[in-house]
Amino acid sequence: MKPSTSRPRPSGLVCAYRKLPRGAGREEQSSTLVALFGKLGYMRTLEVSAADARSAVVCGLGAWLPPRIVTNDELATRLDTSDEWIRTRTGIQTRHIVSPGMPTSYLAAEAGARAMESAGVKDVDALVLATTTPDRPCPASAPRVAHRLGLTGRPAFDVSAVCTGFLYALSVAAGLIVSGAAEHILVIGAETFSTIIDPHDRTSGVLFGDGAGAVVLRAGDQQEPGAIGWVELGSDGSLDDIITVRAGGSEQRSAGAPQSPADSYFSMRGQEVFTHAVRRMAEAATTALAHAGWRPDEVDRLVGHQANLRILHALSERMHIPRERLVVHLDRVGNTAAASIPLALAHAQSTGELFPGARVILAAFGGGATWGATAVTWPAIKAL
Ligand code: ACO
Repeated sequence: MKPSTSRPRPSGLVCAYRKLPRGAGREEQSSTLVALFGKLGYMRTLEVSAADARSAVVCGLGAWLPPRIVTNDELATRLDTSDEWIRTRTGIQTRHIVSPGMPTSYLAAEAGARAMESAGVKDVDALVLATTTPDRPCPASAPRVAHRLGLTGRPAFDVSAVCTGFLYALSVAAGLIVSGAAEHILVIGAETFSTIIDPHDRTSGVLFGDGAGAVVLRAGDQQEPGAIGWVELGSDGSLDDIITVRAGGSEQRSAGAPQSPADSYFSMRGQEVFTHAVRRMAEAATTALAHAGWRPDEVDRLVGHQANLRILHALSERMHIPRERLVVHLDRVGNTAAASIPLALAHAQSTGELFPGARVILAAFGGGATWGATAVTWPAIKAL
């Protein structure tokens, strides 16, 4: 990666860096840095205040959906389900599905190209792709996406945290920028869940859609609109069975053939996921709010992972944020896993729900189990 040119900083200090809430006083910020840097013998950095700290700032946003739209009625012609059941239990009306031979990297490159155009950049220092559905189990899909975008030679890697993947990728990319290792990073969430859903499974088959969304992050200042706030992340591996594809990995391959054909497809224990999703997203979002120094009534938009409208409503209730402030995109695209948050952002930007200066909370829950949330004051950008 290109070294940072904007501001010299001592290497090796990042492990000691603690980002304080925006509301924290300058004195508190400085004294924390004195304690950290003083202990490490870097007294020269004392004049650097966290209030001026480098941050990762959203400067571009892009989205891409495969053209084929599948309605609930179409699903009901081949699955034992109905438009009424899907609408009332999930809020989903349509989803986009890839055409044969269209892998995740194709969607990712389309969204990535739009995000770079939106940011007005032709190059980035790294590409991070959040996906659960890479083109192949090996290698990662990100280098292929980077190659398609004319970024051959740049570091490119996948992040796998299922529906929380985009927030995990955002956090990693922001960390690279804050550390000075990069100036611009392309972060993409892209999925083709239709390729891992059992065509005979009515429970999962109605929930998911394909798509990709992306942002470009640039180096900037913590106080700027678009600056990524504290990214609260968590995981609980004891829940790895509630959202899973059992076969295809080392666990199954080392044991022999899959026990059942269904093991090669996605499965989910929906009601358990529902309960954990509401609880963990609310907890993470509350922490992100506290770091931002915002009260719930000051939040303009709550962008939760687009899994189920009932989950979003439960989240808004727990957070004491009115339903009218929820961004809802799942009715058109279903659950697009790691692509869900950037796609919802692009949708909300296009409808005017997101406006410059809006106080936005992003929250997600996914397989792993994993969860995360962050806060961002929306910048003046155009989604493509
Ligand atoms: N059409 C008609 N009936 C159905 C369908 C369908 N598509 N799917 C299930 N049913 C039936 C069930 O068989 C069951 O029938 P029964 O009572 O005769 O046994 C009945 O509907 C109720 O099933 P439930 O599972 O209790 O339905 P529920 O109201 O819980 O909704 C759902 C299921 C939509 C999956 C819900 O639990 C949910 O949204 N869970 C969370 C999903 C989520 O958050 N995902 C995010 C993470 S995913 C990721 O990370 C990849």
